Amino acid sequence: MPQRISQCSIWKLQEDYYRNLGMAAWDNRTPYFLTNSQVVADNYASLILATLLDRPADLSQPVYIVELGSGTGRLAYNLIRELERKRRYFPATQKVRFQVVLSDIAEETVQFWETHPRFHDVSFWVDFALWSPFSSEPLRLRKSGKVLENARNPVFVLANYFFDSLPHDEFFIRAGQLEERLVDVVPKAVPSYSSANRLDVRDVDLQYSYRPADATTYYQDPVCSALLQGYVGAVASGAVTVPVASLACIARLRSLGTLCLLSSDRGFTTLPALTAYPDHPWALHSGCFSHMVNFDALGRAFHKYLHTTHHTVDGVQTVFCSDLEVELPHVEYEFRERVDRGNPANSAVALFSMAREEPKLAALLGVVKLNLYDPNALSMVGLKLAPMLKGITYGEHLDVVAALEECWRNDYYFRGSANVTFWLGHLYQTLGLFDRALWFFTQTIERVGADAMLWYLSGGCHESMGNRSEAVACYKRALALETGMAEATEALRSLGEPLPA
Ligand SMILES: C[S@@+](CC[C@H](N)C(=O)[O-])C[C@H]1O[C@@H](n2cnc3c(N)ncnc32)[C@H](O)[C@@H]1O
Repeated sequence: MPQRISQCSIWKLQEDYYRNLGMAAWDNRTPYFLTNSQVVADNYASLILATLLDRPADLSQPVYIVELGSGTGRLAYNLIRELERKRRYFPATQKVRFQVVLSDIAEETVQFWETHPRFHDVSFWVDFALWSPFSSEPLRLRKSGKVLENARNPVFVLANYFFDSLPHDEFFIRAGQLEERLVDVVPKAVPSYSSANRLDVRDVDLQYSYRPADATTYYQDPVCSALLQGYVGAVASGAVTVPVASLACIARLRSLGTLCLLSSDRGFTTLPALTAYPDHPWALHSGCFSHMVNFDALGRAFHKYLHTTHHTVDGVQTVFCSDLEVELPHVEYEFRERVDRGNPANSAVALFSMAREEPKLAALLGVVKLNLYDPNALSMVGLKLAPMLKGITYGEHLDVVAALEECWRNDYYFRGSANVTFWLGHLYQTLGLFDRALWFFTQTIERVGADAMLWYLSGGCHESMGNRSEAVACYKRALALETGMAEATEALRSLGEPLPA
């Protein structure tokens, strides 16, 4: 029977997966590489310390850092090391007593952390909890026996690859009219992955349908209702999600204290990004799945919302959300200048593909990004990058264009500087953005002087845009500079034009 997506059975199958598998979930089944990385631990430690520089802690009380769905526990361990190392630079944070709480819904996973030798090394810093943010149980810390509520210092909540696993609803807005997306979860006739005690999510088919819905009455919950009505008012056409369970989770977490949320996940950070897609398919892994997180909606639930601005749906986005009603200049600086501008998490991960195999698109873009969009870096990878641009996804296309424009903003011309206008022209032509390519070829001619190949390429752009007479003129200029140039001769021939005498 078709149901609201948030109410269908797939979410329960996902919970069963984590509860049943325990630590086996991380044995080459569930993605964890980026969100458990040294780079993310480094980013989070910097942002936590920056927050405490902006809003000094009450040193008589601990500062709690609660991780939701900690999984392997590796992020928490590395975060502790990073905090310990970095706070030496900031006297105001040296006496803070951090308590890092790892939590999850799988008992076996909690026991794994409790006996992990790495956590013995830092036992003063950690506590553990078997906790689901949806149960009515309070957050009870297993080591200290304390119940965490109404903390005096800000409570940092970490949630990596977490909100992507929680129930949401999906809608489509067509010319201001709302339709809800329904799903029918149909078990496959012959299951391949399930066991006696667990139906594996790969053994179900999802059949989607749409029907008209009324945003004013759809949700009883005022937060979800306001969000959906706001989307209907703001979006002319496109798909939106309402992260009902994540919003409920955040509301419950507020009993812990004043929240600062740090989350990294595949997701949409703005409304235009969210609605640019016709629907929101899940990504199916080996027994679990993830949906793109609607960070736009989560950000609206907080006083402050900072998000990365990667133009990709394939990379991981990081957000910092906070209920603190004070200026946060150190946080802004860290977030915008380092976490976002340097984009170290995605770029570093992308570069791993270089070590594994032939460079991939992501790896070459990683080189450009880690060089902070230096035009020289683009010029160095341009030759290898161009052939990879054919047949890329929409998300990759956005990512490439954003990187190219950032490199162009960094252009500083002098004789001997990187030939970046040529590479921009070439890459835009390969992407099929011919007017932008033509503009860059024209810039290149102005910089380096008339060149047969540049006129030929400009002719190609004109031809692709349907400007026949301009194309012919460009091909003739190419031949005037290089008599008999094969490419220009062939281009004129294929247009049925007479060749210059
Ligand atoms: C995709 S994993 C992410 C693990 C870890 N944060 C990381 O980045 O590798 C999701 C985690 O959330 C936990 N979790 C807690 N509540 C959940 C729920 N209601 N549904 C699914 N997973 C839940 C799972 O047990 C699992 O450890």
